[in-house]
Amino acid sequence: MSGKNDEIEVFWYLTAPDGHSPWSADGARKIDLPYLKQIAGAVDQLGYTGALLATGPHDAWVLGSSLITSTENMKFLIAIHPPLISPVLAAKMTQTFDDFSDGRIILNIINGNTAQMRAYGSTLGHDERYMYSDEWIQVWKKAVAGESLDFHGKYIMAEGKALQLSSAHQPTPPLFFGGSSQAAHAIAAKHIDTYLSWGETPPQVAEKIKDLKALAAEQDRTLKFGIRLYLIVRDSDEEAWNEARRLLKTMDPDVVATMQGNLRQSDSVGQQRMIANHTGTIPEDPRELEIYPDLWAGLSLVRPGPGTAIVGSPETVLKRIQEYRDAGITTFIVSGIPLLEEAYRVGEQILPYLPIAKPSDKKSIKEDDEKVYTWNHKIH
Ligand SMILES: Cc1cc2nc3c(=O)[nH]c(=O)nc-3n(C[C@H](O)[C@H](O)[C@H](O)COP(=O)(O)O)c2cc1C
Repeated sequence: MSGKNDEIEVFWYLTAPDGHSPWSADGARKIDLPYLKQIAGAVDQLGYTGALLATGPHDAWVLGSSLITSTENMKFLIAIHPPLISPVLAAKMTQTFDDFSDGRIILNIINGNTAQMRAYGSTLGHDERYMYSDEWIQVWKKAVAGESLDFHGKYIMAEGKALQLSSAHQPTPPLFFGGSSQAAHAIAAKHIDTYLSWGETPPQVAEKIKDLKALAAEQDRTLKFGIRLYLIVRDSDEEAWNEARRLLKTMDPDVVATMQGNLRQSDSVGQQRMIANHTGTIPEDPRELEIYPDLWAGLSLVRPGPGTAIVGSPETVLKRIQEYRDAGITTFIVSGIPLLEEAYRVGEQILPYLPIAKPSDKKSIKEDDEKVYTWNHKIH
């Protein structure tokens, strides 16, 4: 019998680009706010826990804020790069989002890669960004909880009390995080609620979970675990593999070569684990990229980050999801191509068969009387 302990969270993905083959000029769709609202509307109505707003062409915070009033149920898992923003200002944005959305925000703490961070003006290296994030998260947590600060770290200094609100969540909204290096695991063990991995095989995931659980135990903490996967679902396994074949046929070898050249430069350990799944060339038969039963690495040819998909009929997909659950995964961040149509397919053919946790009854949300603001002596 399934109980509360078996419940899982299922997030969709809400980030450009999108289309029938978003890596090609013919297959990429125009992405504007009305379109993103349609995806959010589907996520909101179909019973997903929420959606991941990753760092893409649009700023994830502005996108999320634009969607608060057109949604009621979905949670917003919003990406943030600590070196790019003051932790106290990020705490203020979190409190505001939390307040306006009635507690629907979760942060995804991102380390990124060094080339990407340098383009934004941050000069910290890979491991140093994690050391920076260690301090950042400590300050963010105190500030969101409404505490006064007296923090003098190696990187960050924050004194006094800048913020007037306190978090609707107690004590703060959850923190999610993905990163496969040892520096990443150490920070996750110390501060994070849900550790995320890109779609590695169930045995690889089980190995990571073992390492993270041991590190968290040293801190007297426990973690939850999540995975980011594509789903290619069709009525039969054969039809699903035909769809994988179609996707391969839309890939231009030059586009693949450029993407692979860039990805191989990345100092993200997680990224290197994704591209280790293939040789960087487009095969004739999609099953040549089947790295584990029903797990396909083809998308890693054309996109950075999550590059694997579970391919198959609803029964096959549910079987693999169960295998990840058996390995310890309780949060699934899934998507399909295109995002809108596949949100419906997965919503109708997969979600009804999964024990998705209902939103909390908001007992942890503070009462409205906290929302009476007065002038105080500081300028904010
Ligand atoms: C589920 C998931 C989502 C991620 N989202 C983003 C993102 O939105 N933007 C980004 O730059 N990196 C993203 N990342 C990358 C990680 O934040 C991390 O920077 C990367 O894996 C490199 O860290 P590592 O070298 O410790 O593996 C994501 C990773 C995971 C697992």
